[in-house]
Order: sequence, then C-alpha cells, then structure tokens
Amino acid sequence: SLPKEVIIKEVGPRDGLQNEKEEIKTEDKIEWINQLSETGLSYIEMTSFVHPKWIPQLKDALEVAKSVKRKEGITYSALVPNMKGLEGAIEADVDEVSIFMSASEAHNKKNINKSIDETYPVLGEVVDEAKKAGKSVRGYVSTVFGCPYEGKVDEQQVINVCKNLFDMGIDELSLGDTIGVANPIQVRQFLNLISTEFPKDQIALHFHDTRGMALANTLVSLEQGFFIFDGALGGLGGCPYAKGASGNVATDDLVHMLHEMGIQTGIDHDQLLKAGQFIQNKINKPLPSKQMNICTQK
Ligand code: HMG
Ligand code: MG
Repeated sequence: SLPKEVIIKEVGPRDGLQNEKEEIKTEDKIEWINQLSETGLSYIEMTSFVHPKWIPQLKDALEVAKSVKRKEGITYSALVPNMKGLEGAIEADVDEVSIFMSASEAHNKKNINKSIDETYPVLGEVVDEAKKAGKSVRGYVSTVFGCPYEGKVDEQQVINVCKNLFDMGIDELSLGDTIGVANPIQVRQFLNLISTEFPKDQIALHFHDTRGMALANTLVSLEQGFFIFDGALGGLGGCPYAKGASGNVATDDLVHMLHEMGIQTGIDHDQLLKAGQFIQNKINKPLPSKQMNICTQK
C-alpha cells in the first residue's frame, strides 16, 4: 500500500539556482527562502558552499545561509564538498550538511575533480567534523540510474558507494537521477535491490525531470514504500556538470499529484505557487512546471 504521508525536501534554492546563468540578487534568494518557509515545507536546502568559480550563482552562500529567517520546525541545510565548505556551513550554523559524490567515475571527476576513491577520505572527514559540530549529514549519490559520460552504471557499484557513505555515518541518503534517464521499471528493480540493504526511512529519491519521467518514477517509488522525495519549486534547475540535465521534479507538481492521491505532505499548495511566482519573476522567464503554467495563465 502507498504511504499516507510523504516528506518533501525543497532543493530549489541550491539545485535549482545553481544552474541559472543570470545572477539572482542575494536579497531575492533570501526573500524566496523566507517565503518557502511559510509553505509548510519541513526541509529547505538553502545553498552550497562550493568553489565560486565552479558555481558562480551561489558565491553568496554565507550571506544567504546567515540571513534567512529560520523558522521553528524546518531543517535548513547546505551542500558541502569538502572541509572548506563545511567551515562555511558551520559558520552559517545550518542544521544539516549535504555531502555528495557520484556512482560513476567520470561524473565524479567532472563534478568534484576527484576519483571515487580519492573522494571517500575527504567526505569521511567532513562527516566526522560535521557530527562533532552537532550537524546531521545527508549524502547524495549522483548518476544512480545513468551517467552522461558512461551510460548505464553498474548497480553493484552504486550500492557500494551508498554503503561507503552509510559507513561514514550519514543520516540519510539521497539517490540522484542526475540526468533524468531512469524509467519506472528500472527504478522498481533498483529500489527492490536497495530495500534489502538500507532502511526506507533513510532513503530519499532525487529525480530530475529531463525526460518527463520524474512523476512516473515517483509513483513507482511510492508503491515500493519510499516516502522521502526531493523537489525544486517550479522545476527550476539542473546540474551544470551534466550536459542536458534539466531541473528536479517540480515540488508543486509533486505536491499536486500526492494531494490528489490523498497523500499528505503538510504543504500548502497555494502558498507554494505564490513563492513560485516570486522566483519566476526574479529569473524573468516561465518556470517549467505544469502547476506554475496553470497559475501563470490564470
Ligand atoms: P579543486 O579545484 O579540486 O579544489 O575543486 P582544491 O581542493 O584543489 O582547491 C583549489 C582551490 O579551491 C583552493 O584555493 C581552495 O581553497 C578552493 P586556492 O588555494 O587555489 O586559492 N576551495 C574552495 N573554495 C570555496 N569553497 C570550497 C572550496 N574548496 C576548495 N568548498 C571542488 C574541488 C570540490 C571545490 C570543486 O570541484 C567544486 O566546487 N565543485 C562543485 C561542483 C558542484 O557544486 N556541482 C553541483 C552540485 S552536485 C549536484 O548538483 C548533484 C546533486 O543535485 C544530486 C544529483 O542530482 O545527482 C547533489
Ligand atoms: Mg540534483
């Protein structure tokens, strides 16, 4: 049977904005996140502490993360690739840090400039130090269902990377379909496999909607009993180191589908769309989600 409640983690301010070419004003990012805090979301990934040359849009990470008005009951997180990133995240006093690596060598190298084996000790130290600082840690694995450079990624290889991250002590794993190549049969098979390895309450699904498959893949995941999903409001975003990758599944489309199915999210759909309109005006082009399209035409 399907879960009665789903947890949605909003990653738009990080995964969405990181791929926007036009610079968004720091004050607008802060205002947007403050609006997201009023929608009933329980989790917001605010920014990332990566090298500004790699992701210029998020060079104001410290100011954004420090200035957001934190609301009780919401977990505010930030992405960090290494100790330098963690220092920023701790200075900003985020609640949780997200580490990340890829299941495929080529994407890992392009994204964080290291081989998979070179990445483990870097992330291991980040997890240890984050825990000492009282932060929970989320681990992303990218290219779980396919890599833009290597194609299909061996399932056992993916499981190994996941295991290594859990061994470091991460609290939750987010499985990334970085370039939106997964299909529902593939997702069902992989989730079947992973269910025997790790608990479902520690696994999130992070679908990009590059080929319009994200909601279908979400449904299959729900049927397998998974109930934590990442989304970006309006479908904003992509991965700058994965050619052709478009945004995450749109949080507003996801919430719409779940509510129509009688599954609760705790999110106010109207408030969500208002926050969507705010950022849509700032990026100055239509957001790709269906729900934003409907509400903009009204
Ligand atoms: P590197 O050049 O190998 O770093 O980059 P390094 O350790 O050799 O250091 C070089 C210089 O960078 C040094 O400065 C460091 O201080 C500085 P210098 O001494 O030359 O003046 N540096 C930093 N500066 C600011 N913040 C930092 C930092 N670290 C080092 N954190 C690095 C390695 C990881 C830094 C780089 O490759 C990078 O920033 N990559 C970020 C890539 C990225 O953000 N990608 C998008 C996010 S991942 C994603 O979208 C996928 C996900 O959504 C899941 C999915 O969809 O699959 C999560
Ligand atoms: Mg992503």
